[in-house]
Amino acid sequence: MNGASIGVGLLGLGTIGSGVVKLLRENNSQIEQRLGRRVEIKKILERDPEKLAALKLSSEMLAKNFDEILNDPAIQIVIELLGGIEPSRTYIREALLKGKHVVTANKDVISAHGKELFEAAAEGKADLYFEASVGGGIPVLHALKENLIANKIQEVIGIVNGTTNYILTRMHDEHVEFEQVLQEAQRAGYAEADPSSDIEGFDAARKIAILASIAFNTRVTPDDVFVEGITRITPEDINYARELGYVIKLLAIAKDLNGEIEVRVHPAFLPKEHPLSAVQGVFNAVYVYGNAVGETMFYGQGAGQMPTASAVVGDLMEIVRNLETNSTGRFPCTCYLEKEILPIGQIQTKYYLRLIVKDKPGVLASIAGVMGNHQVGLASVIQKRTLVVNEERMAEIVLITHEVLEQDIRDALAVLRGLSIVGSIENVIRVEEGAKS
Ligand SMILES: NC(=O)c1ccc[n+]([C@@H]2O[C@H](COP(=O)([O-])OP(=O)(O)OC[C@H]3O[C@@H](n4cnc5c(N)ncnc54)[C@H](OP(=O)(O)O)[C@@H]3O)[C@@H](O)[C@H]2O)c1
Repeated sequence: MNGASIGVGLLGLGTIGSGVVKLLRENNSQIEQRLGRRVEIKKILERDPEKLAALKLSSEMLAKNFDEILNDPAIQIVIELLGGIEPSRTYIREALLKGKHVVTANKDVISAHGKELFEAAAEGKADLYFEASVGGGIPVLHALKENLIANKIQEVIGIVNGTTNYILTRMHDEHVEFEQVLQEAQRAGYAEADPSSDIEGFDAARKIAILASIAFNTRVTPDDVFVEGITRITPEDINYARELGYVIKLLAIAKDLNGEIEVRVHPAFLPKEHPLSAVQGVFNAVYVYGNAVGETMFYGQGAGQMPTASAVVGDLMEIVRNLETNSTGRFPCTCYLEKEILPIGQIQTKYYLRLIVKDKPGVLASIAGVMGNHQVGLASVIQKRTLVVNEERMAEIVLITHEVLEQDIRDALAVLRGLSIVGSIENVIRVEEGAKS
């Protein structure tokens, strides 16, 4: 065992910060053995001193402000677990510029400000690690940066938001409405009081921005990601998906199409045989298709105290190893290319459409005609049921298109909306068939 311990400054002693303290304690001797070095949390920045007391940590460890950590020569590594953009972004940047290595779980900061933080890391000759920012405990960022580095990555598709996957799983299993499951999820603690970041897809957008930036070596920020949430999914859509051999999942999709990339988050029909279809409840998974490796999938708990602490402490230990072997700086910024990001209108995929139309002869032919005029080929047309709307007999029809340009389907739908035979367009959901090998 080498002499001096490695000093750590911890920012935030909330859910994950407390998990890091617990993990460093619980696996203390194994961590020391594996590193040949002791790791010691020297100072903690936290608003609430009670949180230190609850973990039986000395009140002397409480830092009065960030500068106390920044200017402490005994602290080589800063772990940022405050969350949110500011002051986290400033603290991470200042630590890196000062030559302190940083571990963070902060997807908001990394996805939106990765560029400036990696520049600060290069300037300060410091490491910046953020495995926990995507998929909690699932080791997917390291896999992309290291184990799969020989591949051209063609697709990354993630179920990276546990709340929405929990809601959709229950809607599949119990045939219940979205709103009802959401309220129950909130009561059970699986959804936030303000669930918009999860159910509207913004949380997943931050994560796919990080994944795409690493997989395709080009900067992708959350603003580049097309986002659509799950609030319009109904039990009817789920039943039709099942009948047609699919499940509905909120997917975070990134594809490299010969140098142009697509990055999007939206609910999608996914074939029930696809490996991601089996991901249930709050679990997360990231499916990666590389030109050499083919299909791979990384699965596990995408959030939670100890799974996330596992990734944070793993990063911490890797930095200690880098320090021991004078090999810090092994992972500089991965975004050395500038690839074009396709607008959503330019993507090509299949679509599921559910329409309520007048129940009379010739209607289906008219709809097929509008679709044909916009280069939208129909793979299947199913009339499902008749119903009465405003005393008029209507029919519900479900269409699955061939692979088409999104702009074409948008144009076709605009025409359909204006036709008197069309009562309503109930839903339009993209169909994701999986990797094209
Ligand atoms: N929770 C998860 O499952 C999970 C999973 C993956 C990644 N992450 C990421 O991990 C990070 C931490 O998440 P968390 O769930 O541990 O959050 P949390 O429970 O809210 O913990 C954050 C802690 O930092 C404190 N804090 C915030 N700003 C501060 C400031 N300016 N000065 C001093 N103390 C401050 C908070 O105190 P107050 O409570 O008084 O504000 C709180 O104790 C976030 O970036 C999150 O996205 C979380």
